[in-house]
Amino acid sequence: MVARRLTADAAGIAEAAALLRDGALVGFGTETVYGLGADATNADAVARIFAAKGRPHFNPLICHYPDAEAAFGDVVPNAAARMVAAACWPGPLTMVLPRRPESRVALLTGAGLDSLAVRVPANASARALLAAVGRPVAAPSANRSGHVSPTSAGDVMAELGDRIAAILDSGPCAVGVESTVLDLCGQPALLRPGGVTAERLTALLGPLGHGGGAIRAPGMLESHYAPDARLRLNVVTVAANEALLAFGPVPAGAGACFQLSAAGDTHEAAANLFAGLRALDAEVRQHGLCGIAAMPIPDTGLGVAINDRLRRAAAPRPATAG
Ligand code: TXA
Ligand code: MG
Repeated sequence: MVARRLTADAAGIAEAAALLRDGALVGFGTETVYGLGADATNADAVARIFAAKGRPHFNPLICHYPDAEAAFGDVVPNAAARMVAAACWPGPLTMVLPRRPESRVALLTGAGLDSLAVRVPANASARALLAAVGRPVAAPSANRSGHVSPTSAGDVMAELGDRIAAILDSGPCAVGVESTVLDLCGQPALLRPGGVTAERLTALLGPLGHGGGAIRAPGMLESHYAPDARLRLNVVTVAANEALLAFGPVPAGAGACFQLSAAGDTHEAAANLFAGLRALDAEVRQHGLCGIAAMPIPDTGLGVAINDRLRRAAAPRPATAG
């Protein structure tokens, strides 16, 4: 089986929605990364997400909705959640909230937790798809376990093309890093930096905690988002046999180079990050280079999410990366 590539027009969206309602797996673009979607109320379909990704643990998945009202049908919003929804949805933000006991979302979707992660993406075709499905859509990033997240339909085809029914091609992802995961079950806690900056959330909610790390967000294993090549961080001097992930003016000497943002703009860099890691990974393989060297990126705004992904990509890799 090879995934059908559907254009994100009315016919393609209707086709993708029908497949999802039928229990099939469909890759679809959001403004963050491409998701591997399944009907969240269908436990069999959700189980196939874990199988297709080769995800060794049942990490809880995010449920996607066309609007906040639909999302709050499956979780109980508090005042903070309503405020954040008004300010940040639709957009690259996921909220973890208490699951409604009457929710029809399959327990496997939330890995049996009594909380559920919900998100309203901003991408227009994603919202049209979600509205057409009329059910919550569970979707992790559409990559094989531990690999770099996909930011184009071609990336999804390369990762999962032989394991899913279709890919809804909505072009490259505008944000390029995953959504921010904010836990609002108790004191607000940032579980994963992402497309909505911590600065923005702090302005709305006051100081944020960091949750319980690995326990609160089981998907946040240390090694993740990993290219095949070895990755060196905060590099000032690049070796001739290294591929350079550049940010701003390029130092002389790299064997190959991918520019994240010549102007040193973290938004532009986030949008290019995963495509850059994939491109340099291919360069390293093709030309027998010794690895990828990443230039320093400021740890503010979207730079926090970029540095988080780069640190994970550079971390030692256990066999169980999720
Ligand atoms: O941008 C994104 O968020 C993309 C697009 C497709 O929406 N999705 C994504 O999903 O990145 P995934 O599965 O790769 O990451 C979801 C993260 C994991 O770290 C998971 O542990 C955490 O959210 N998570 C999900 N449900 C949770 C819950 N109930 N409590 C705590 N953490 C949760
Ligand atoms: Mg992922």
